[in-house]
Amino acid sequence: MSNISAKERRLRLVAEDPVFRKIIRIEQEFSGRIYLVGGALRDVFLNQRPQEKREWDFAVGGDSLALARLTADALGGVFVLLDVQTATARVVLRYGRTRYELDFCRLRASSLRADLKKRDFTINTLAIEVKALGEGSLKVTDFFGAREDIRRKRVRAVSRSAFKDDPLRILRGEAFCARFKFSFDSQTEQLIQRDAGLLKRVAPERVTEELAKVFSVPRAYPYVAHMDRLGVVKVLFPETVVLRGFQQGGFHHLPVWEHSLETLKCLEGLIPGVRRKMSLARAAKLEAYLQESLAFRRSRLWILKLSCLLHDIGKPLCQSRDENGHYHFYSHEKAGAEISATIGKRLRLSQKETETLKKMVFYHLRPGQLVNQPPSRRARFRFIRQTGENAPALMLLALADRKAMQGPLSRSRNFIFRQDDLISLLSGYFSLGKKKTRPLLTGNELMRLLGVPPGPEIGWLLREIEEARALRRVKDRSQAEQLARRLHLRKTSEASV
Ligand code: CTP
Repeated sequence: MSNISAKERRLRLVAEDPVFRKIIRIEQEFSGRIYLVGGALRDVFLNQRPQEKREWDFAVGGDSLALARLTADALGGVFVLLDVQTATARVVLRYGRTRYELDFCRLRASSLRADLKKRDFTINTLAIEVKALGEGSLKVTDFFGAREDIRRKRVRAVSRSAFKDDPLRILRGEAFCARFKFSFDSQTEQLIQRDAGLLKRVAPERVTEELAKVFSVPRAYPYVAHMDRLGVVKVLFPETVVLRGFQQGGFHHLPVWEHSLETLKCLEGLIPGVRRKMSLARAAKLEAYLQESLAFRRSRLWILKLSCLLHDIGKPLCQSRDENGHYHFYSHEKAGAEISATIGKRLRLSQKETETLKKMVFYHLRPGQLVNQPPSRRARFRFIRQTGENAPALMLLALADRKAMQGPLSRSRNFIFRQDDLISLLSGYFSLGKKKTRPLLTGNELMRLLGVPPGPEIGWLLREIEEARALRRVKDRSQAEQLARRLHLRKTSEASV
């Protein structure tokens, strides 16, 4: 079957959709013209598989809010007023097993052409009249060469003011490029360079939403690097400006910022290989872990990738030089964690995202320290207890960080980093049973047993017993009691010295 007919088939699928049929009937009671525009048509021409959720945008020549209400009433949907000024409303409904989000927006200008001219990218300017589609016409209006741009995999701004009108479109464009493996045309790139500074005006929530889309594709690096080249990254993350060209010690072949970008590239390159080294079941667990939503369907993977960019952000603050002229960056992970938390707040990340980002930066050196030598069971246990659910992401970050370090010292014999140990540790993490076991002794039982009041000693004893149990040094309650007595005695005698 030819390409054209595949598109026609997709378009017919839209026309024959039961909800679309109903909209056609509603239109008969409505005086203005209604056009299907935007992403739904773009996706037809991109040969994208129809999504689970139907998201249709309608440009309405008439009272769009009244039409949205009419549709909500007729289909039993929920009416949500999105913006009074542009008369935009959404109707949300479920039909069978499919969820629909229907956006109705008044034409933004006196004609359809002028409305489309005000939109972001040519690939989003296809339109078809709902009535015509209902009557079997498949003639799509294409004023701005959208089909040609889709064919050439090109994201092109509709007008020179596209980003001035809404600077968020810069990130939307980058997200389209990442999602469809498209590229900007050179004139659009020039407009981005000209207008990137305007992104400061955009609500941070909107920025974060689009940024997370860019980072969420399996290979985001080329797009992040592209945003960097066009000056977008330094507007969103001014803290990174000082990292550019900032030289580091002999382990590194790149300055701090260039190394941070390289770390992202290495992370994305190594994940498939790490998965291949794991059993299928564990690889599936790793994938589920990385895709776990930390907020608004934004994944842990996006925060892991962000931490690749920010893990060394504290270095300039912590630079020192010893008598041999060697640079050191003591405690840069602590300084970096604080800066990352500030960035997280500024981007309005959720609390969980910010906390995760902060911990990723704070602990990013820990896995490397762990595998300087074959890690003992105790060291592994302590690492996982300390870093909790962030442990696997930290191991991936450490692997990527290491791969992005190719200075002369990183190849020296004294620099030991057991990559395979880290991968087997990661694999081991996903074989740990998630079953919660009851503690051998509770805090109350410990207080009764030893006659000590509540306080830090009880917390410490509980952790020691938990660790000894994980290392199979104590197996039952009576052994746990013996250990508690021993530790308590040691502590009291140390205190009395
Ligand atoms: N649009 C725009 N500028 C924006 C946001 C949206 O011009 N900042 C226009 C585009 O023409 C877009 C349409 O409004 O096609 C609908 O926007 P939206 O639903 O956010 O995106 P889609 O293009 O439908 O893409 P997606 O698949 O991501 O929903």
